[in-house]
Amino acid sequence: MILLDGKALAKEKREELKKKVQNLKEKQKIVPGLAIIRVGNDPASEIYVRNKLKACEEVGIKAIEKHFNDNESEQVIIDSIIDFNKNKMIDGILVQSPLPKNLDEEKIVSFILGSKDVDGFGINNLGHLLANQEQLLAATPLGIIHLLEKYEIPIASKHVVVVGRSQIVGRPLAIMLLNRDATVTIAHSKTKNLKDITKTADILISAVGKPKFITEDMVQKNAVCIDVGISRIEGHVVGDFDFANVKEKASFITPVPGGVGPMTIVSLLENIYNLALNRERK
Ligand SMILES: NC(=O)c1ccc[n+]([C@@H]2O[C@H](COP(=O)([O-])OP(=O)(O)OC[C@H]3O[C@@H](n4cnc5c(N)ncnc54)[C@H](OP(=O)(O)O)[C@@H]3O)[C@@H](O)[C@H]2O)c1
Repeated sequence: MILLDGKALAKEKREELKKKVQNLKEKQKIVPGLAIIRVGNDPASEIYVRNKLKACEEVGIKAIEKHFNDNESEQVIIDSIIDFNKNKMIDGILVQSPLPKNLDEEKIVSFILGSKDVDGFGINNLGHLLANQEQLLAATPLGIIHLLEKYEIPIASKHVVVVGRSQIVGRPLAIMLLNRDATVTIAHSKTKNLKDITKTADILISAVGKPKFITEDMVQKNAVCIDVGISRIEGHVVGDFDFANVKEKASFITPVPGGVGPMTIVSLLENIYNLALNRERK
């Protein structure tokens, strides 16, 4: 079994990116800019945003956070998105999910210009993805593709089972794999006989969010196992796979932490940089 070391690859990519950002500053006087909108006081969101700000700073991207109270009106948040849309120093805008229940997240996010949709969740980027004309890709699926590529794991003609169909992971990832000629099965909470399906996967990806959800008997021998899940048990971060047992059967497996998570952050940074490269053309 080989560990898919997302932490090491992300570090390598951050170092490369830092040089590219520096180059962009020197040659074109462009400092990539990110605006993060956070609403309310969800503790996990606060940590995620802090980590994103820190990661940006480390590679030389200028990131700013706009924080609103959870009783802020929808219109005020939308107005700030419109301001960022017009701001030439801002290349990417993201709204940290989840928003408080009283706000219409889909509506708010829809105000982000397609050309600044750094998360790739907007209809414009999703439409291009579906049409196999990929533009900006969501960070978690993109990070997974980069990890598979780094370890030279073939995707074309493989049967990939993606468990989970969320807008941010499962759906875009399944389409990206299809675009790379995999045979893709998407499973979700209404799927019957899940084990019969997962056992046929050459590459098994789980994005459910339940510890030990994927047990050893659900995995085909020599499968490639990608664990997107993040849960906390007694202060420890764990994934969806029963890692200790599944690792005996897998050919490759991502650890949690240190697998998909760091790849997600570095892919977001790469997206900001790529949007900044287009600044002249906007
Ligand atoms: N590592 C990273 O960088 C990263 C990034 C994003 C998310 N995550 C983590 O990945 C996990 C999933 O995140 P998400 O935002 O995609 O979550 P989500 O929106 O809650 O989606 C979970 C998916 O799992 C499916 N599911 C739930 N129970 C199931 C069951 N018994 N059998 C089969 N499928 C089942 C759901 O099916 P239905 O659609 O039918 O409800 C849903 O599609 C979470 O732990 C999250 O923290 C990690």
